[in-house]
Amino acid sequence: MPRAVRSVLQWLRRSLLARATAVSLVLSLTVSVIVFGLLTLRIASQLYDARRDNVLAVSTTAVSDVKSLALASTAQDDQTLQVLKASMLRAAEATSGSQEVALLHTADSVGDLAGTDLISATLEADQIPDRLREQVRAAPDSIYWQPVSIGGETPGIMVGTTVSLPLGGDYELYIRYSLEAEQQTLSFVQWMLSIGAAVLTLASVAITAASAAAILQPIRRTAEASRRLAAGDLGQRLPQTGADEAVDLGSSFNIMADALESRITELKTLSTVQQRFVSDVSHELRTPVTTIRLAADVVYDSRAELPPRAARSAEILHAQVERFEVLLSDLLEMSRFDAGVAGVHPELTDVGQLVLGVVDGARMLADDRGCSLDVEIGQTPEIAEIDAGRIARAVRNLLANAIEHGQGRPIRVQVSDAQLTIDGLARAAVSISVIDQGVGLAPDQLTHVFDRFWRADTSRQRTLGGTGLGLAITREDVQLHHGIITVESTPGEGSTFAIILPKEAVA
Ligand SMILES: Nc1ncnc2c1ncn2[C@@H]1O[C@H](COP(=O)(O)OP(=O)(O)OP(=O)(O)O)[C@@H](O)[C@H]1O
Ligand SMILES: [Mg+2]
Repeated sequence: MPRAVRSVLQWLRRSLLARATAVSLVLSLTVSVIVFGLLTLRIASQLYDARRDNVLAVSTTAVSDVKSLALASTAQDDQTLQVLKASMLRAAEATSGSQEVALLHTADSVGDLAGTDLISATLEADQIPDRLREQVRAAPDSIYWQPVSIGGETPGIMVGTTVSLPLGGDYELYIRYSLEAEQQTLSFVQWMLSIGAAVLTLASVAITAASAAAILQPIRRTAEASRRLAAGDLGQRLPQTGADEAVDLGSSFNIMADALESRITELKTLSTVQQRFVSDVSHELRTPVTTIRLAADVVYDSRAELPPRAARSAEILHAQVERFEVLLSDLLEMSRFDAGVAGVHPELTDVGQLVLGVVDGARMLADDRGCSLDVEIGQTPEIAEIDAGRIARAVRNLLANAIEHGQGRPIRVQVSDAQLTIDGLARAAVSISVIDQGVGLAPDQLTHVFDRFWRADTSRQRTLGGTGLGLAITREDVQLHHGIITVESTPGEGSTFAIILPKEAVA
């Protein structure tokens, strides 16, 4: 399909106004062509019928004039007969108003000059149709007519009959009438009709376009308001003047917007209350937990002196208090993210060195699980403007997960150059990937992996393992840097978590 046609079709598909205008154009054109055709046919046939009736009436008079001349004549010799024929021709011309008359001899013509035909200057004998001549010869006293073409362009009517000269035998009389005037009238009418049809078509298209635009205006306004509402401008309302359907649409929109606004405000309030609650409770718990922890540490440190059951309890207490502390600090961190008070303090950092530091810190845990840690860093240092504390924590979380779910198989950590698109702009970035060959995650698990408190192994007792907040916090940390975190995983083969951060801090 040519490009122009394709773009017109696309335009029609996209714009209601264009479609309405196109439909109106096609319909108006069709109706105009049909009306034009019908009117032309009707007018042409009316003009033709009227002229034919007139021609026949005039011809009847002309024929009777010619016949009276013939009857009154006493011409006996060729010469007087010739004079008679000439006056008959002139009489026919005068009465019919046509300058094209022919007086043709027949087998019954009498006299020496009997073979001579008398014809008006602009008419020729072979222009008289043979069929008409046959009809005239077959029934001598009747008047016949037949449509003819004059010079191949102008329509005409040929009328014929026979005339008897008392002493000169029978002659055929033909009169040709031109329909040029009718033809001109018809052309003029057609021209006027075409102009009328064109004006009507244009007017109807313009009216359709104008009314479609008027009808579409409230729809456009509503669409625009909906877009703004969806973009977060909850105060969007439509004006309500008048009493038509547009006002109906507007008031329905406003009702919907009101409902949406109050619901969102309700949810926001609820969520703020919840966030405040979590934050307050975590804060309130901090002091008692610290006290409990100090006390638990004292008991734990002197467990050797305790009876075995009490020593075991001291160990459990120590482990669980530690978990509690971690959970509490994670909750506090989440509530800071939710409240929007978590800030980044970017500083130029060698990402490779940062990762090496984190990996070193995790070696003990890795050795414990019997897995090796491999770091791959390029020749040139990857320097990025990042909040080293947050990114170190993020890498630590990924590494801890890889070690925990890595089934003791080697773990690789890669630091490399990357690209990141932020607000449509490509930016230089650095990527940190943590690759394990452990249990992996199924596709449906991958969609939840960054959810708060989500853990793949729900059967695991809540007293063991992490809280399920690690990846949620990691993602928040990465997002604070305008970076992204991705995960690819195959069950049984392992997972790759990658953090990509812009090298230059984004304001
Ligand atoms: N590398 C991985 N391989 C397989 N599963 C993983 C991996 N990393 C995370 N998961 C799954 O995702 C879940 C959520 O991870 P996340 O780090 O958020 O929480 P957690 O490790 O359970 O607890 P926390 O990190 O808060 O101590 C984990 O419980 C685990 O089931
Ligand atoms: Mg974790």
